[in-house]
Amino acid sequence: MANNIKILTEHINTPGIETFEVYRKTGGYNAVEKAIKKMSPDEIVEEVKKSGIRGRGGAGFPMGMKWSFLAKPEGVPRYLVCNADESEPGTFKDHYLMKSIPHLLIEGMIVSSYALGANKSFIYVRGELMYVVRILEKAIEEAKAAGFLGKNILGSGYDLELVVQPGGGAYICGEETALLESLEGKRGNPRNKPPFPAVKGLYQSPTVVNNVESIANTPWVINHGGDEYAKIGIGRSTGTKLISASGHIKNPGVYEITLGLPVDEFMNSDQYLGGVRDGHYLKAVVAGGSSVPILPAHLFYKTANGEDRLMSYESLSDGGFPTGTMLGSGGFIAMDETTCIVRNTWNFSRFYHHESCGQCSPCREGTGWMEKVLHRIEHGHGTMSDIDLLVDVSKKIEGNTICPLGDAAAWPVASAIRHFRDEFEWHIKHPNEATKPGAVFMGA
Ligand code: NAI
Ligand code: SF4
Repeated sequence: MANNIKILTEHINTPGIETFEVYRKTGGYNAVEKAIKKMSPDEIVEEVKKSGIRGRGGAGFPMGMKWSFLAKPEGVPRYLVCNADESEPGTFKDHYLMKSIPHLLIEGMIVSSYALGANKSFIYVRGELMYVVRILEKAIEEAKAAGFLGKNILGSGYDLELVVQPGGGAYICGEETALLESLEGKRGNPRNKPPFPAVKGLYQSPTVVNNVESIANTPWVINHGGDEYAKIGIGRSTGTKLISASGHIKNPGVYEITLGLPVDEFMNSDQYLGGVRDGHYLKAVVAGGSSVPILPAHLFYKTANGEDRLMSYESLSDGGFPTGTMLGSGGFIAMDETTCIVRNTWNFSRFYHHESCGQCSPCREGTGWMEKVLHRIEHGHGTMSDIDLLVDVSKKIEGNTICPLGDAAAWPVASAIRHFRDEFEWHIKHPNEATKPGAVFMGA
């Protein structure tokens, strides 16, 4: 299998691909025909398991395993909910997929719903993206008119209603249980887990929540088989991954990469990011959205034991924190030497403080304290003890909250101090220069 295969984006630039007619001509909806006419739901679940695909929203949980956890009590409806709330800073790949090739997601929703035994499924779209809601609704109408959705799909007796729901406009509504609360019409507060949604989800019924990109992979898995999918990629990082790349690079955008691509090639070849903008050099990278630890350039290209680092779940996290980071949602942000790490960390902290739902005190209070302390360091009022205070607060948040937003707020701060402590100290020692954007100071 070629190593630059495009599973999701092969047809994305075909003119008119957003219409049913053109999508169908490229082989679209063949997976629905195959699944519904020739496969049982269990056979589809088996193929997804064999594919080894891991959740593309950020956590990387094996998708087939999640599907097989779905409880099936007699007489109780089951739901599939697509998490299209994509709000992670630096992440814009689901948005790109939905607006460009909406039928791919709709096709994935149909085959996945059929596999899970769901007759009503939801796509929960980030509230700011109303135009994407309309694009998806149009695609749903087209699929319905062609007999691929609605009652008695392709004469099989299988019914599916697909609902597109605009989100509540909060980052936390992307956390799966907050999303379900929001979908039920309540405030988007995360629930305690367990029970996981697979047992008690939407309206207390068994529910699978999958990311857009995860679901968009299922038509390919059905058309080609899980074994073929598992041949792509490296080790337990099977398949391809959409990476949204931004920051100080020559070619920002969304890339579909084969997992296992060397980091150096991704960062520096013209086929991908093209390297750092001219006249500058790489200082730090956030590889998987703002929630993952920041990595300084010297740890980015090589793993802890000196091997070339790869774009895969395992290689990016090699050695764990502090030498590794995470692939996360694939929100790749490159920063050159003009970036002020203190200012950047304060900015991230401000975001998490604003987005904390406030249910648990370590997150509610801790994110507020981190933002305050970082603000004073950045604005020339910090003291040396503030640095350890930040580390202490981040440790008190980590692992002590209901949902991962707490960890997501703590890791950027802890990792920035671990790798760029001297830059924090420099800001404190030079209070009059601390507010200068782009204070140039390289981490150790
Ligand atoms: P998680 O690790 O708690 O769960 C992953 C998935 O596996 C969930 O769907 C969960 O229900 C399921 N699961 C785990 N153990 C299970 C069990 N024993 N039985 C049944 N199901 C089980 O992570 P979570 O909260 O889903 O996601 C956190 C990640 O989301 C972070 O790593 C972050 O990178 C990412 N993220 C992505 C954003 C985006 O915009 N795409 C926004 C914010 C965070
Ligand atoms: Fe809310 Fe933060 Fe607790 Fe998550 S960790 S439930 S966002 S307070």
